[in-house]
Amino acid sequence: MKSSIMLLLILGMLSRAGAGEAVSPAYEPAKFFRTQIQPILERRCYECHSHQHELEGELALDSKLGWETGGENGPAVKPGDLKNSPLIQAIRHLDSDSAMPPKKKLPPIEIALLETWVLLGAPDPRTTSKP
Ligand code: HEC
Repeated sequence: MKSSIMLLLILGMLSRAGAGEAVSPAYEPAKFFRTQIQPILERRCYECHSHQHELEGELALDSKLGWETGGENGPAVKPGDLKNSPLIQAIRHLDSDSAMPPKKKLPPIEIALLETWVLLGAPDPRTTSKP
């Protein structure tokens, strides 16, 4: 119940944002990932979690296989399960050891978008086979 209420809120925010056409996360999952999720990962995480830059904690976020395999502590995302997705726990900044990004907490809209993505089953159309 709580999750679906949150999804409705997000959908409302996305359509009110008015930047171009609204993207429906549920009906266009690949487009949702490309336009709303990938840019957050690129801007906020790739610096330390991509093959072009660094692989901190052995975690790559520049491929689907990357977060599926996860880092030192296993898979970073459990599709549909916020509580058991280390990536979500990390961006909520619950404790200073695992807080991601380490220095500055993401804006609430970006946290909500990443939570929505996980709740939707973490659709990720990227096809590279690099872990
Ligand atoms: C400035 C560098 C830096 C940035 C930016 C960064 N991380 Fe990290 N991340 C680390 C380091 C270092 C570790 C390993 C040590 C630790 O857990 O603190 C790590 C570990 C993690 C882990 C745990 C991996 C494991 O299995 O132990 C997750 C999940 C994670 N990061 C997610 C993210 C996400 C999501 C973002 C972007 C929103 C992000 N990080 C941005 C440096 C960074």
